[in-house]
Amino acid sequence: MATFRVVEEGTSSPMAKLLTVQGGKPLEGSVHVRGAKNLVPKAMVAALLGSEPSQLRNVPEIKDVEIVTNLLQIHGVKVDADPVTGDLTLDPRDTYSAAHSEIDAYAGDSRIPILLCGPLMHQNGEAFIPDLGGCRIGDRPINYHLEVLRNFGAVVDKTPTGIHISAPRGLKGAKLTLPFPSVGATEQVLLTAVLAEGITELDNAAVEPEIHDLIAILQQMGAIITVYTDRVIRIEGVERLSGYKHRAIADRNESASWASAALVTQGDIYVKGAAQRDLTAFLNTYRKIGGEFSVDDEGIRFWHAGHALKPLVLETDVHPGFMTDWQQPLVVALTQAHGVSIVHETVYENRFGFTEALERMGASIQLHRECLGSSPCRFGQRNFLHSAVISGPVELTGAEINVPDLRGGFSHLIAALAAKGTSTVTGIEVINRGYEHFMDKLIGLGADVEMSER
Ligand code: EPU
Repeated sequence: MATFRVVEEGTSSPMAKLLTVQGGKPLEGSVHVRGAKNLVPKAMVAALLGSEPSQLRNVPEIKDVEIVTNLLQIHGVKVDADPVTGDLTLDPRDTYSAAHSEIDAYAGDSRIPILLCGPLMHQNGEAFIPDLGGCRIGDRPINYHLEVLRNFGAVVDKTPTGIHISAPRGLKGAKLTLPFPSVGATEQVLLTAVLAEGITELDNAAVEPEIHDLIAILQQMGAIITVYTDRVIRIEGVERLSGYKHRAIADRNESASWASAALVTQGDIYVKGAAQRDLTAFLNTYRKIGGEFSVDDEGIRFWHAGHALKPLVLETDVHPGFMTDWQQPLVVALTQAHGVSIVHETVYENRFGFTEALERMGASIQLHRECLGSSPCRFGQRNFLHSAVISGPVELTGAEINVPDLRGGFSHLIAALAAKGTSTVTGIEVINRGYEHFMDKLIGLGADVEMSER
């Protein structure tokens, strides 16, 4: 059986730890972006709900796919993958409960295990969730998830190693309202409600493109899901779901990251697979800063036209707003804009930690506890540095960097690629979680990078 296994590219050793970057060269060429990291693992979990095999296409070779593959396999799902074509077959016809120690060993740093709860309870009557990881960009609690599951009738027991969840009286549809339109909690509701008895109505749901793609998958499987205006989703539970055949939407976060890389390094990158439809808010902002782009049927070309970049005031938001995951690479571009920019982060309370390394590289970035955007957010009256004031342009110089999280790490990397001199980057493995073959892509774009053992 073939499977997805992620190793560091550009080196013979999967243990390589240190990346040396010689900055100052524009990134030029083309990259191919495949299925979205924030959809594919959830689509794989959805296959657990079926009574027949499912087929997923456009699957990227990233760490999160490897983690979910392992988690599904230890629960009895047969996973057959072709990493080259990106085709994945998932057969859930013989699932069973896995040992807690095995789940703990395979869950890695991912937050996906929490989304296995509903499907595993439907299949096996119980689920175990180890203590969760994920990027260090805030507290990242799971209280919405647990509250939602309790409302469906699940019994949640906290144990010293994680959470045991069972449904002794079955799962029943519920009327639910999320305190914030959480992507994960909305997915939790969808993946649980489709086979729950009766009707579920969710208010204040997330409506990101990845949520719509998951709904399309569940509908193919036989689910009845209606998306109303004003963030309301209604799910009519059915007794049985079949499999699906689906091509995952492209990763709009990876697309936006390469777009920022083109701007930061004064380069020119064609992102094959990038979909304009899912990038509207990003493209508007890119244009306002002075970035150029042109769209065709296969992707989007992004480039720096040679004139001065403009500063701007930006607020991250849930879809259809400017996505939080686009913020970090774009902040690096704003260090090159002529004037003062303000970025107000309203989704995560602690997503500016990565700016400390940028400051060491010469950037001028002040963090504030106040909401500096046009509207106050839920972090405003609390003690979080969630607004950034960025003054530019500055000359970035190479530095020693340790990657803090996925998007922050990519941002450090493109800052190093634009900087004068040499940077050394550790902790680079984190980037494998969401950027497929990123070392090969960097080298293909002409980056002067070398991976070695520490
Ligand atoms: N929240 C809670 N309680 C919960 C769940 C969420 O307070 O039980 C809060 C979070 O702390 C955060 C906010 O709600 O402040 C939004 O979190 P959300 O649940 O929407 O995020 P998520 O589902 O954990 C996904 C992506 C993130 C992306 C966000 C927002 C995946 C695997 N992750 O996270 O992606 O930033 O939605 O769009 O889909 C990334 O790709 O780098 C990344 C972090």
